[in-house]
Formats: sequence, structure tokens, C-alpha cells
Amino acid sequence: RNTPKICVINGDGIGNEVVPETVRVLNELGDFEFIHAHAGYECFKRCGDAIPENTIEIAKESDCILFGSVTTPKPTELKNKSYRSPILTLRKELDLYANIRPTYNFDNLDFVIIRENTEGLYVKKEYYDEKNEVAIAERIISKFGSSRIVKFAFDYAVQNNRKKVSCIHKANVLRVTDGLFLEVFEEMSKHYEKLGIKSDDYLIDATAMYLIRNPQMFDVLVTTNLFGDILSDEAAGLIGGLGMSPSANIGDKNGLFEPVHGSAPDIAGKGISNPIATILSAAMMLDHLKMNKEAEYIRKAVKKTVECKYLTPDLGGNLKTFEVTEKIIESIRSQMIQ
Ligand code: NAD
Ligand code: IPM
Ligand code: MN
Repeated sequence: RNTPKICVINGDGIGNEVVPETVRVLNELGDFEFIHAHAGYECFKRCGDAIPENTIEIAKESDCILFGSVTTPKPTELKNKSYRSPILTLRKELDLYANIRPTYNFDNLDFVIIRENTEGLYVKKEYYDEKNEVAIAERIISKFGSSRIVKFAFDYAVQNNRKKVSCIHKANVLRVTDGLFLEVFEEMSKHYEKLGIKSDDYLIDATAMYLIRNPQMFDVLVTTNLFGDILSDEAAGLIGGLGMSPSANIGDKNGLFEPVHGSAPDIAGKGISNPIATILSAAMMLDHLKMNKEAEYIRKAVKKTVECKYLTPDLGGNLKTFEVTEKIIESIRSQMIQ
């Protein structure tokens, strides 16, 4: 096997803590060529560009991208209204249309949100109508975009031995846009029903409640961009918070792996951020590289570390970022010599 080429982008804030720790874990598991590249708000302040062209090139040429987190200034802080977060640029430029966001607690909870990653309200077609003093945003739901994400979700269900796909929408109000998304879903579900995959659909508002009251009712959820963004943070709340939630952004050519969380300015620089979300994202990366055994070592090690209560403060512990990583590495080493 060729040595996988991994583009590493720390970004801002705790990205600078959790990504180097994750690279340390990866170095235990195999040979990788790491190519470090810059992006983020600090990068913007330094060089005037949140994501230099060079970074995009490196990302495109790599087998995978390991991404930390970036800070996005509020529009009231930075008057440049067209500022685009580098993660959005990467998703768009590399056409990473499927965002896989699993929620599991190694016990009784295990579902996956499949988030459409390129359109919806994220097309960033916003403008201000001066005359009428109205701000307007376009929300684009295409038949092409809906079909490929819905197909991705059903195929994911088949390949990962899942039983059901739920479409999450607001077609009762957004009758044209989410109406199209739901229509595509219902049409495609007929084919997958024959393969043993069940399907149903729920409104986004009710889903927000069900996720808290009865998350076990879900298996795979497929939804539009912004709904998926919001639901995945809510889902993280079920398993101890954002420090525990990994994700994969998948396109036909590239894969980008990142924690669901942001740069956490409230705790950045203290060395107490939870590295698990990023380490589990690396496990998703290893699965993508067909290094399934190594991915499993990571997940087992995380499970053990959590069970033994080797935890950072967000989970009620008092360990530092590097100490949790040490425990994970210890467990990986002991699994590897068995
Ligand atoms: P956040 O995810 O950074 O933090 C939310 C809360 O979760 C904070 O209390 C934080 O301390 C906690 N938290 C997050 N990750 C943690 C970890 N690994 N360990 C322990 N605690 C953790 O969200 P926010 O505060 O709303 O946003 C901060 C900045 O990050 C904003 O500029 C936002 O735009 C950006 N952001 C970036 C990404 C990304 O790069 N993909 C994702 C979300 C938010
Ligand atoms: C996420 C983040 C991003 C998003 C931001 C930072 C642009 O919140 O990955 O969930 O909205 O997709
Ligand atoms: Mn988000």
C-alpha cells in the first residue's frame, strides 16, 4: 500500500491543540505523509486570506484532509460581509457533498446524521435590498443535490448494516424546496425498501424534540444543510457535548475529516480541550483509507479511556488534552501487541 498523503489543517483556537494530538495517535498506527497547510481567521489576519490558494491545492492533491476548527468573526466584528469560512470553501471547492455525523456512546445510542453539504442556505446568496430595507437569502434545493445525498444516505445504510433512513424536513411550510427534497426521498425509498431498508420522515421541529425524548427511534437521518448543522450539535448534547462528535465530509474524489465543534475560544490555549472528537474523526479517515483494523483500535481505545474516566473537564474530569491522548495511545499499543 502507498503511504497515504494527509493534508493537515489545524485552523484556530483549540484546533491547534486537538489536531497535533490526533497526528500523534495516527503515527502509532501507520505510515502517513503529513502536509501541513494554513487556513482560518488567524491566517486571514496574517495574510489577508482565510484560505490561501496553496492550501486548496494541497487539499485537492491529498488522499485525505484532517481539519481542526476555525474561528469565524461575526459580521458585526468584521465588516467584510463576504467573508467565507475556509471549511465552507473546502466543502464547495472539493465538492464534499455528504457530511456524515455519527452519534454513539458505545452503549445504547447509535445513529448517524447525513447532512447535505453544498447547497440549501449555504449557497451564500444573500443581499440587502436598500430601498425596502430587507435582507434576503436564497435557499437552493436542487434535484441533483437532493438525489445524490439521499442516495448516499440509503447506500450508507446498506453498507453499514443500518435498518432505516429518516428524511428530516420542513415540507409543511417550505412546500417547494423541502417538498422537492421529500419527493426525491420518497421516490428513492421504494428501491431501497426492496433491499430491506425501511424509511420514514419527520418535520425538523418535531425531530428536535424526539432527539431529546427518544433518540433510539433514529438510525440514519438525511437532511438539508442547515437542519443537519443544527441537529448534529443537538445530538452531541446527548453524548457529553461537542468534544465527543466526529464527522466526515465526503465527495467523489476527496474526504475531509473534522470534529463537529468549532474553535472554542472560551477554553482555547488552556490545554484542556477534549481531543476525542478529532481522534474519532481520524478513525473515520482510517475507515475511508480502508484501514479498518486501525480505525477499530482507535474506537476501542476511546471507549476504554471514557469507561476508565480518563476525561477532560467538559466531561467532568480533570485531565489535560495530552493526558487523554496518552491514555488512548497506551490502549492502542496494548491492543496492537495482542
Ligand atoms: P464551539 O463548538 O467552538 O464551542 C461550543 C461549546 O462547546 C463551548 O463551550 C466549547 O468550550 C465547547 N467545546 C467545543 N469543542 C470542545 C472540545 N473539543 N473540548 C471541550 N469543549 C469543547 O462553538 P461556538 O463557541 O459557537 O463557536 C466558536 C467559533 O467556532 C465561532 O467562530 C464559530 O463560527 C466557529 N465554528 C467553527 C467550526 C468549524 O471550524 N468547523 C464549527 C463550529 C463553529
Ligand atoms: C459545522 C460548522 C460550520 C457550518 C461553520 C463553521 C461554517 O458549524 O461544521 O458544523 O455551519 O457548517
Ligand atoms: Mn455546526
